[in-house]
Amino acid sequence: MSSYAQVYGQWKTNPEAFWAEVAKEIDWIKPPTKIFDKDAGVYGRWFPDATCNTCYNALDRHVKNGRASQRAVVYDSPVTGQQRIYTYAEALDEVATLAAVLKNLGVGKGDRVIVYMPMIPEAVFAMLACARIGAIHSVVFGGFAAKELATRIDDAKPKAIMAASCGIEPGRVVHYKPLLDQAIDLSAAKPDAVLMLQRPQSQAAMQAGRDHDWADATAKAKAAGQKADCVELAATDPLYILYTSGTTGVPKGVVRDNGGHMVALKWTMSGLYGIKPGEAFWAASDVGWVVGHSYICYAPLLHGATTIVYEGKPVGTPDPGAFWRMISEHKIAALFTAPTALRAIKKEDPGAEHLKRYDLSCMRTLFLAGERADPDTVQWAENILKKPVIDHWWQTETGWAIVGNPIGLGILPVKHGSPTVPMPGYDVQIVDEGAKQLPAGTMGSIVVKLPLPPGCLPTLWQNDKRMVESYLEEFPGYYKTADAGYIDADGYLYIMGRTDDIINVAGHRLSTGGMEEVLASHPDVAECAVIGIKDALKGEQPCGFVVLKAGVTKPHAQVEKEIVGLVREKIGPVAAFKIAVCVDRLPKTRSGKILRATMKKIADKDQWTMPATIDDPAILDEIAGALKSHGV
Ligand code: COA
Ligand code: AMP
Repeated sequence: MSSYAQVYGQWKTNPEAFWAEVAKEIDWIKPPTKIFDKDAGVYGRWFPDATCNTCYNALDRHVKNGRASQRAVVYDSPVTGQQRIYTYAEALDEVATLAAVLKNLGVGKGDRVIVYMPMIPEAVFAMLACARIGAIHSVVFGGFAAKELATRIDDAKPKAIMAASCGIEPGRVVHYKPLLDQAIDLSAAKPDAVLMLQRPQSQAAMQAGRDHDWADATAKAKAAGQKADCVELAATDPLYILYTSGTTGVPKGVVRDNGGHMVALKWTMSGLYGIKPGEAFWAASDVGWVVGHSYICYAPLLHGATTIVYEGKPVGTPDPGAFWRMISEHKIAALFTAPTALRAIKKEDPGAEHLKRYDLSCMRTLFLAGERADPDTVQWAENILKKPVIDHWWQTETGWAIVGNPIGLGILPVKHGSPTVPMPGYDVQIVDEGAKQLPAGTMGSIVVKLPLPPGCLPTLWQNDKRMVESYLEEFPGYYKTADAGYIDADGYLYIMGRTDDIINVAGHRLSTGGMEEVLASHPDVAECAVIGIKDALKGEQPCGFVVLKAGVTKPHAQVEKEIVGLVREKIGPVAAFKIAVCVDRLPKTRSGKILRATMKKIADKDQWTMPATIDDPAILDEIAGALKSHGV
């Protein structure tokens, strides 16, 4: 029997008592006497009078409490052939030293530090070193281009940037330093210092005065016995800023606090994921995404578990058995990945032949999130693994699952296509445009009744106004998730899609509005539209339509190639923008709105009806023809 109903009920009856109890799992410097202040911040603040340090809870306390020689971080890198294991004592040593290096560079409490690094343990140490001294990190995913990095530098105004010389994609070294230099050139806010980790695969050119060698600086600090202590921070002080796609090209700086974040994540490790301290938990994501923040860096370590830093892919590094090797070799109790990774494995190894080479008896559960978990993929994974496959739904903004199947409280019946039920902390409702609650089974906007629980964003970085406009204004009293769906008669949620222009490509959240801004900047483009179309592997892929300016004589194929290159240059390879289509006209309503939804249905070969408000129906045939000629 699952205790979910009882636990959720306890939370609902008295949310403050519930979180006060969970908060006892954290080592506070000054424990909270007040749990929630509804008058503080944009919608209230959690643990407003408490003080703490996240790094202390992630490392120091475990070293003090008998876990010094336990594995904290396991690094496994099939792309370089390297493996390294750090115990809690070793990880603490690395982090305290790195924190001292940051202090030597003039970084202190409240300063921002951008981290631009691949999946190596130093990325996790960088985050924890910032947390240790109260600096606010902002990790930027390595697949973003210089311009995206520059936008983030300009918003966060970092005192320092911590970077590695390269990332390694299968068959390709991604040289970070030229991208970083270009981004700093493009940005108005110049950092005082760059701490550069030279990797053997790429030697970064160093700028005298500004750039410091990571290995040198840490070696000197170690030789001098320099280690930084944990700084006392307010629970409400920011731990990090993580930029995520909004509806324009300007990303939103999601802020995470220290106290609420620790409390919420600690609860999820046992309540949701059913993990015991000492076990290994692997989130096969990237530190550049929220999943990486919460479940590669913070939650496993806050829980005294072992976390895995994997520098590789589900397939091709070297084969579709890569995940199964990892699980058996590192004795992983639960894997968390995106459905796209499983689809990639399934495509290359549908009969799961590679699985037969490994003993997966250590593994109890597979968790999926980041995009819709299609029932075919879930079923395939259940069949081959013979273990529960658990979908759960969350967002960068929330930092942890809004809806899931709480394994730690006892599994609830799995319904394919549903991430199951709201976690304690979330009162999830389906509403119409007027914020009126809709009955079971009816599609509508998914909202969460305020206040959001601990761990969720208190605001956007230095932008309360955008926080309110983006999330709180449209449905007064609720947080707008911008996802649409319905709740069935058993209280199970179904996510059907976004209500804005965000698309989800291989579990990566991308703004089609941001891509349209790039397309529109091409000198030959008069107008454009970008939509997300169905993709068997990545869930969705972007597809851009452009109308060229009168008098452009270049061949269409050349402009299309230039546009594909431009998106890669401005946003980055992660946009996976491969389809550009020149058309004579875009379908519009009589009032001039581009009919993107109808274009999407045509591209997806879904049933569609002629919009009543369409200006010229013939244009839809032109779109269908253009897509066909591009193999879509
Ligand atoms: N640095 C630089 N480039 C990167 C990158 C990084 N950290 N991560 C991805 N890229 C590049 C890829 O090399 C690819 O480039 P290409 O166009 O030259 O081939 C491009 O960005 C698109 O990447 P992605 O969409 O992730 O596809 P992929 O080719 O790397 O393969 C799959 C990814 C299909 C194997 C997919 O199953 C997968 O694992 N995706 C990642 C899922 C994930 O972790 N999501 C996070 C949310 S939990
Ligand atoms: P991100 O902020 O990158 O984590 O992306 C969040 C968005 O991804 C959500 O708003 C959803 O649209 C989508 N998403 C995440 N998890 C799921 C899931 N389990 N099922 C369906 N969609 C999901």
